[in-house]
Amino acid sequence: MRTKHRVSFQPASALSIVENQSIDLVVTSPPYPMIEMWDDVLAAQNPEIRERLESGDGPSAFELMHRVLDQVWAECYRALRPGGFACINVGDATRSVAGTFRLYTNHARILSACQALGFDSLPAVLWRKQTNAPNKFMGSGMLPSGAYVTLEHEYILILRKGGKRVFSPAERELRSRSAFFWEERNNWFSDIWDFKGTQQQLAPAGAGSGKEHMQTRQRSGAFPFELAFRLINMYSMQQDLVLDPFLGTGTTTVAAMCAGRSSLGFEIDRQLRPVIESTVAAIAPRLNDRQLERLRQHEQFVARYRETRGHQPKHWNAAHGFAVVTGQEANLVIPQALSVRPDGDGHSPGPAGPGTPCELRYVVEHSIEPQPVDKRRPQVEVEVEVEVESLQPERSASRDPQQYLL
Ligand SMILES: C[S@@+](CC[C@H](N)C(=O)[O-])C[C@H]1O[C@@H](n2cnc3c(N)ncnc32)[C@H](O)[C@@H]1O
Repeated sequence: MRTKHRVSFQPASALSIVENQSIDLVVTSPPYPMIEMWDDVLAAQNPEIRERLESGDGPSAFELMHRVLDQVWAECYRALRPGGFACINVGDATRSVAGTFRLYTNHARILSACQALGFDSLPAVLWRKQTNAPNKFMGSGMLPSGAYVTLEHEYILILRKGGKRVFSPAERELRSRSAFFWEERNNWFSDIWDFKGTQQQLAPAGAGSGKEHMQTRQRSGAFPFELAFRLINMYSMQQDLVLDPFLGTGTTTVAAMCAGRSSLGFEIDRQLRPVIESTVAAIAPRLNDRQLERLRQHEQFVARYRETRGHQPKHWNAAHGFAVVTGQEANLVIPQALSVRPDGDGHSPGPAGPGTPCELRYVVEHSIEPQPVDKRRPQVEVEVEVEVESLQPERSASRDPQQYLL
């Protein structure tokens, strides 16, 4: 099985070149309106935003920032296939503008925009973030009544275009192969996610020091690999095409590679190109780690099941040679990546000048052959690399906002 991955350094408005109904799933996280680190990026796309902020009109700056995002949601809706999902990770913002402190409800604004486009809203996930310390209180400290509740969660909005997806006979087979384990379902479909312990999983190491790279990811507002990986497994099937219109450091790309899906990403900031290249180069050799962990965790689950119930689960997955709880898991095959290469001459150099095409293209070969238990660590052949010196992640308030645009 072959998947293709394309990263285009253009604003997401370039999505207009993507055919109608050609995307199977959207997984993304936009720049968060009214979070200061994104002011420059959003103001570069509509300079009126800066004027409103400077004149102390927070609510209308918030509205204008969302209008920049609205255009992207409209393109996502158009490009999604009927029955396709859009999963949007966003946090609300608290901010003082002209002396008034208030909450800016990004999740509610995006939900109403998407519903107006025709998306059906489904139950959302609350992602409890580890990074926001609850003891960092805001407002009047220990004195009533002006202390504010700390934001310790973000949202993952789950939206669907139209009714349920219809699967052709060929797709039905792929769907069955793309099943997840019963015990994963119980965990993944909870409405509260907490990635304690798994958050750093597959954080790129090796391109720059792991610590440096993690700092870059934090500065870039990256979401954890696990977040994208889960959503991709929950809402698409192998060989589907996953779109991230706000790609950032490339987390969705590598999660799609790992899950055996193709991907398309747009990123406005060309300075993130070496960061994305390093994400791919660092993760490629370990692309099977998370999938192997799924297999190991399932074996542990079966062992515990047998211990507590005195018998093993009643269905059998012949491909992997283990018991499973439901018949739906019987044909599940976890893909294993064999190689990661640049796709043809698809890596266009993309100097920082406006108008020059700049993109990255990769092709990943996957095996869907059952693997004997003791050979579950196939080497991934990797032909992508990045010069560590070219890693110059920078996102400072003093940057010229126009640099973000092409
Ligand atoms: C919250 S970050 C995404 C982080 C990403 N999920 C990751 O894991 O690295 C939002 C990204 O959207 C980019 N961006 C902002 N406006 C954009 C636009 N109009 N088109 C494409 N990308 C845009 C920003 O440069 C930023 O990298």
